[in-house]
Order: sequence, then structure tokens, then C-alpha cells
Amino acid sequence: MTEQFLIKGLGGEKRLSGTIRVTGAKNAVLKSFAASLLFEDTLAISNVPEIEDVARVSELLQALGASVEKKEHAYALNTSAVTKSDLDDAIARRLRASIVFTGPLLARFGKVSFPYPGGDIIGPRPIDLFLDGFTKMGADVTFDGRYTISTQGGLRGADIFFTSVTVTGTETLMMAATLAKGKTVLKNAAMEPEIMELANFLNSCGAQIHGVGTPTITIEGGGMLKADGKTLRTIPDRIEAGSFLILGALAAHELEIVDCNPAHIEMLIELLRASGLSLQVGEDSIKLSGNTEKFRLEALQVRTHEYPGFATDLQPPMTVYLTQAEGESTVFETIYLGRLNYTEDLVSMGADIKMGNPQQITIKGPTPLSGRRLESPDIRAGLAFLLAASIAKGDSVLNNIYHIDRGYERIEERLSKIGLDITRRASSV
Ligand code: EPU
Repeated sequence: MTEQFLIKGLGGEKRLSGTIRVTGAKNAVLKSFAASLLFEDTLAISNVPEIEDVARVSELLQALGASVEKKEHAYALNTSAVTKSDLDDAIARRLRASIVFTGPLLARFGKVSFPYPGGDIIGPRPIDLFLDGFTKMGADVTFDGRYTISTQGGLRGADIFFTSVTVTGTETLMMAATLAKGKTVLKNAAMEPEIMELANFLNSCGAQIHGVGTPTITIEGGGMLKADGKTLRTIPDRIEAGSFLILGALAAHELEIVDCNPAHIEMLIELLRASGLSLQVGEDSIKLSGNTEKFRLEALQVRTHEYPGFATDLQPPMTVYLTQAEGESTVFETIYLGRLNYTEDLVSMGADIKMGNPQQITIKGPTPLSGRRLESPDIRAGLAFLLAASIAKGDSVLNNIYHIDRGYERIEERLSKIGLDITRRASSV
């Protein structure tokens, strides 16, 4: 059954208020599921968001022969019975994170086969840096509709320089190197907090990974890891926290965002403050207060960048924000070639957005938005449409919400609690 959201727009008034909780991070937990393949015993994971992508990686592990036990927001994963190392085609084609499973599988079994990974259509998403890394570690790559990577005598440590900073590439090769023979050095590595949390946990279970959070990561390979009853707690989702903050800036008099880590969205907080917003930042909460209609947001120049720069996953909600800021803003999307296409729909809602080239837009604001029927094109643009519909005048219908459910747990329940009129219903189309 397909579903849709019906959203009654606030029409420019700021009426939301209350407290909203942030769940565990999608882009952390999907990699924790892959990491379970490095363990000889059970890996327990907590603070797991109930989202579609987690259901998909559970299925991926089960199809390999792993035991997956689910409790509320917690999983126990045991991969000791896994003997297969070919990723299920249909599941792997549905999400990009499936590629991360290839590193631990190759390192553990000396062989892995998988299809080209799926994921959002936001521009080309090559895997050359993964294949190049595996080759440097002594593996052979063949392709006959699926990739097969194999090694004679196991993976060897290597010196690997990433010619583009890649998050999943760093995670995949870091995990492969954990079970490889000898030392691996990853240079120009990604520095995202999700990688840091994963490496810290792996180290507490016997891995030897150093330098995470800097561009050079060194891994001394060793044997299978042991969790010994320890639990990997999923860090708060920084993209969700940032999106709620943007919604608050647009539509709330007062809003407290709890169970988040403000240190992971410092760039956004700095920009919002530069735009004139008053925020109280605690250790695990952010409070926005006294945000009235009279208050004018100021235009900004935003350029997406690898962490700790402005996250590309926050670019679509930020663009909605800038439609309501006074003056001319620019957004430069540096990570993905096709991640500004959704802005056409914002224009049809009343936004004044001009595309200079596929990676750059100019936004003149503020412009009132009007509700309309929308199709969620991908997870982050889908959420941006939800924000646009929330502040628009009139009703909006948002279709294709599987994309939103992929990454945000029961978003309508949490947004209803802070005063948004949003309903999930079966789609008539
Ligand atoms: N790239 C290559 N070759 C490769 C790999 C990447 O050229 O082999 C390029 C990409 O084309 C892109 C850039 O490197 O231009 C960065 O891509 P990256 O590999 O970092 O992206 P990713 O690891 O596939 C993860 C998140 C994305 C997030 C990016 C950037 C997961 C599962 N996905 O993707 O999340 O946008 O890092 O932070 O962790 C999302 O959640 O909506 C999402 C798209």
C-alpha cells in the first residue's frame, strides 16, 4: 500500500512549539549492521531508528545467514553462522549503504559478490574508489553484471589515497583493513562523526584504528573482533537535528530539540546565528525561543562540504529556509551533481530560485509559498518538501513518502506533537 502525507500549511505564521526528540543516525546505524560481520560473537546495537533502511539492512544480513534479533530500538546481530558472501541483488540495489558490507565480507571470506549499489538519484555515485582500494589490498575485480572481488590468501594492508573524500569508501576500507594482514593507511579520508563513533567502538572490541577524525587513518589488521557483551549505541542523527532546527527557525515560536549532539552541526548553528537567530545550545539539546513573525531572517551564502563543513544532506531543508530569508542567498552544492533538481517544485510553490548551473542556485526572498501536490524525489528533498508544505499557505499532499520513511522514524507523529497538522493516509493514486 502506498501512502501520502496531507499537510495543512501554517501560512507564514509561526505556531509550532514544544519539544522534539532526535532518533539514532541512519548513516551510522547502517554501517553498524555491516560491522557485525567483523565480530565472532553477538553485536548489540541500541538507539536504532525504526526506519525502512534499517529494515533493508536487516534483510541483507539475514539473506547472508546471520541471526537478527529485534527489540524496540535495539538489535542483536550474530554473524557466526554466515558462510555466504554474495549480497542479495534486489536489496543491495535499493540502497547505497549495501556497498559498505563488501569490505567486511571480502576481508572475512576472501571473496564478495554484489550488484552496483542503489540509492537516491542525486547525481552519479561511482564506486571506483572502493574497487581501487580493494585492488591495492591485493584483490582482483571482475564484472559480469555483478562485481566479484576475490583474493588469494586474504587482503593485505596497503597505502590508499582517496582522490575524492568518500564517507562510505572510508568506512568500507577501514573495516576491510581491520581484518587484513598488516598495516593500512587511508589518506584524504572522510572525517564524519559516524566514522569516529564506529572506529571507537571497534577499537574497544580489539581493532587498532588510529587517526579517525583526521584525514589520515592508520589501521593495524588483526583477527575477528569480540564485543563481549558491549553495546554499540547509535549516535544522534545530525541531519534530523539540523532539519528540525531549520523547521523551528521557519515555523516555531519556541522549540527544544533534545537527544541531539549540537557539536555535530556547528556549521549550521553558526550560519543560523549569522542569519539572526537566537539559539541556546546545551550539551545534548538546542533551544530556539522568542522567534516571532516580525523577526526577519537574513540571506546567506551556503556551500556544501565534507564534515565539518555544511552537510549536503542539509542542503535541501536549508534551501527552503533561504526562500524565507530577506535578500539574495546562494547555494553551491559541491558533492552531488544532481542534488538541486528538486528546487523546480519549490519554484512552483512560489519560491524565487534561479539555477545558474546544475550545482548552483540563487534564491531571492522572502516569498510566500502555496501548498500543492508534491512527489518526494529522495529522502532529503522529500523532507525539504515537508518543511515547505508546513510553512505554505493552504494544503499540500506529499506522495512517494517511502523516501521519507527510509530515513525518518514516524516523522508525522513527532511533528504533530509540536503542533503541525499532518496526517498519513493511504494514497489514492
Ligand atoms: N565518489 C567517487 N568515487 C567513489 C565514491 C565516491 O567519485 O568511489 C564521489 C561521489 O561521486 C561524490 C563524493 O565522492 O561526489 C562523495 O560521495 P561519498 O562516497 O562520500 O558519498 P556516500 O558515502 O555514498 C554518504 C551518505 C550520504 C551523504 C554522503 C556525503 C551513507 C549511506 N550515505 O554517501 O547520505 O550525502 O555520504 O556526506 O552514508 C543521505 O543520507 O541522504 C545521503 C545521500
